[in-house]
Amino acid sequence: MAESCEGDLFCGVNVADVDNPDEMDALEKKHAVVIDAPDKVKAGEEFEVTLKVGEYKEHPNEIGHFIEWMELYSGETFLARLDLTPEHSHYVMKATVKLDHAHPLRGRAKCNLHGLWENEKEIEVG
Ligand SMILES: [Fe+2]
Repeated sequence: MAESCEGDLFCGVNVADVDNPDEMDALEKKHAVVIDAPDKVKAGEEFEVTLKVGEYKEHPNEIGHFIEWMELYSGETFLARLDLTPEHSHYVMKATVKLDHAHPLRGRAKCNLHGLWENEKEIEVG
């Protein structure tokens, strides 16, 4: 989180340190956006990406507290979006994509109570 946003989850983008799960607090564990994708793909060839929220600790799924949407980007390029309601039972989004450029994959998720969360995964495109 940017220093100027300290203490305000709705200021900027929140990032959980998924490289050090033992260091994450409960809030970070509930909102970390886990990106499952190959480390290396061929340019222009389809592959599957899965985004998950709640991998480290289950996120609530009720009218007053739920994940509103999940999005996938390649760098700043938007790739896919899943809109969710409290009736949705799992925070999992699957997308089949193809890339021409090796920007990091970025997964975003918006919690109605805890703001915007993002994580990245490097991917090699050859
Ligand atoms: Fe939340």
